[in-house]
Amino acid sequence: MQRFYLLLILWICAAESLPCVPRDFGNGGTVCVCNATYCDSTPELEIPEIGSFVRYVSSRDGLRLDPTEGAFTNESATADVTLQLDLNTTFQTIHGFGGAFTDAAGINIKLLSNATADYILRSYFGEEGSRYNLGRVPIGGSDFSTRAYTYDDTQSVDTQLHNFSLAEEDIKYKIPLMQEALRMNRDLRFFASAWTAPPWMKTNNDYTGFGFLLEEYYQVYAEYTVKFMDEYKSYGLEMWAMTTGNEPSNGIVPVAGINSMGWTPSGMGKWVAENLGPTMSKSEHKDTIILAFDDQKFGLPWYVSDMFSNKVAKNYTAGIAFHWYWDSIVPSWVIDRTHYHFPEKFLIMTEASVGDKPWQFDKVILGSWERGEMYITDIMDNLQHWVTGWVDWNLALNHHGGPNWRSNFVDSAIIVNAENDEFYKQPMFYGLAHFSKFIPRGSVRLKLSQEGRSTIAVAFKTPDNKIVIVLYNTLTENQHAVIRDQERGNINLQLPPKSIHTIVYK
Ligand SMILES: *[C@@H]1O[C@H](CO)[C@@H](O)[C@H](O)[C@H]1NC(C)=O
Ligand SMILES: *[C@@H]1O[C@H](CO)[C@@H](O)[C@H](O)[C@H]1NC(C)=O
Ligand SMILES: *[C@@H]1O[C@H](CO)[C@@H](O)[C@H](O)[C@H]1NC(C)=O
Ligand SMILES: *[C@@H]1O[C@H](CO)[C@@H](O)[C@H](O)[C@H]1NC(C)=O
Ligand SMILES: *[C@@H]1O[C@H](CO)[C@@H](O)[C@H](O)[C@H]1NC(C)=O
Ligand SMILES: *[C@@H]1O[C@H](CO)[C@@H](O)[C@H](O)[C@H]1NC(C)=O
Repeated sequence: MQRFYLLLILWICAAESLPCVPRDFGNGGTVCVCNATYCDSTPELEIPEIGSFVRYVSSRDGLRLDPTEGAFTNESATADVTLQLDLNTTFQTIHGFGGAFTDAAGINIKLLSNATADYILRSYFGEEGSRYNLGRVPIGGSDFSTRAYTYDDTQSVDTQLHNFSLAEEDIKYKIPLMQEALRMNRDLRFFASAWTAPPWMKTNNDYTGFGFLLEEYYQVYAEYTVKFMDEYKSYGLEMWAMTTGNEPSNGIVPVAGINSMGWTPSGMGKWVAENLGPTMSKSEHKDTIILAFDDQKFGLPWYVSDMFSNKVAKNYTAGIAFHWYWDSIVPSWVIDRTHYHFPEKFLIMTEASVGDKPWQFDKVILGSWERGEMYITDIMDNLQHWVTGWVDWNLALNHHGGPNWRSNFVDSAIIVNAENDEFYKQPMFYGLAHFSKFIPRGSVRLKLSQEGRSTIAVAFKTPDNKIVIVLYNTLTENQHAVIRDQERGNINLQLPPKSIHTIVYK
């Protein structure tokens, strides 16, 4: 058996892999602490020759993207889990992974010294970091702002959008960080979502509560959306995609009391078909795609089916965006069903965070492996059901899980401690990195047949023909797994309790 585990400590470690500085807050796991002079990092991959593989491991017990190298074998061993790779059966093509440039994220990051702030951006976007290639940006304020606002907050009607202007928050907190992130990763693509139209365009004349866009302002609101893109483009920030608006259900059933605007499926269809679609097509942003829905999975597939009964709206829509918040009760077959109804529209998860539920009293739990596991298992589940991307919510929050003007606090992959000029990379950060760092845009999911249930796994082929397999041992005990690749041979792996593994080979 020994030789199956012939895992050598790699020379890639010598290429400046800086280890995690752990801190245990007594919450069932550890964070990694970064400050102005130190932050853990994992250098760009060096993939070994054919016959070998690299494995990165993170675990409840403290490993963080720990790299080792191993060799294929043709000997067979008994295993708790056997995974058979099928290179000939492919599924969805990946768009990417990322997080959101909210006002709250910018405010927290800007409270840090330049050097510490730079480590946050490098941790997410740099070659030595998670290599995020998607960034979501709110159009105007969200609940993760210190006030409610839009880009045209006049008291009266302003159909010519004379009073349109970006806010101080864009200039101070969003644009500079987005520009810096783009410098770190040229593959970074942005997409935008509005939480609400200016109040004067709405039935309730407010930022929150039960309210819809007045039909007489459908066209003005499309122009407002395009104006936002013009402004960001003038800062070198072009939008890859535009969603139809964050969580329209909040404007219909306003439980959370956050900035929102309701859309019925037919209203959204009409607006996309007659206003947003044509206005974008005629603008400088005709290559920006439209993502419909941007709401909880329980609206799938009926909401989009209803919206797509408008054939022109369907035609203008490239993909369907959804959020994670009720994933624990909404089964994944609703995503499959949406895919089978509309196979030409890609599916993408555009917002996730833990701590949103009233019964989750602790909004931020520093070091919680359990929350990291929630991210890992949800990403796996999404990827196994045709989803092409997974985008985290706020890039950074403070230890209350804010700021948020509605006190709708949640957890984040990075928590900032401005007082000490340091930040904490949570297990959620590493859970996401196990996918984002290794599965670049254009990767295609491969079939992976499985015997044994204690492990979950997904496999991909990257555009440069590497194989990437991610496995998670859900048990609190060791597992022995075998991956069979007909061409290369077998990989035998010991999986420590509650551990995630990314395996990469040529
Ligand atoms: C930053 O972190 C490093 C590594 O833990 C530590 O040696 C150093 O003292 C810290 N610097 C400050 C200013 O806290
Ligand atoms: C395993 O067998 C295959 C097919 O015979 C061969 O191509 C491959 O090189 C072998 N791998 C090892 C590690 O011996
Ligand atoms: C995969 O396809 C190749 C070429 O099309 C074929 O030679 C091979 O037998 C197939 N493998 C499996 C497992 O079906
Ligand atoms: C921090 O960065 C900003 C913008 O890049 C720059 O204007 C400022 O001088 C820097 N501050 C320090 C202390 O380096
Ligand atoms: C809107 O713009 C007009 C001039 O274009 C200006 O007189 C007015 O004060 C502005 N209103 C607000 C609320 O900014
Ligand atoms: C869909 O879009 C294509 C290309 O822009 C266009 O030719 C076609 O007429 C559109 N179909 C509908 C139903 O709008």
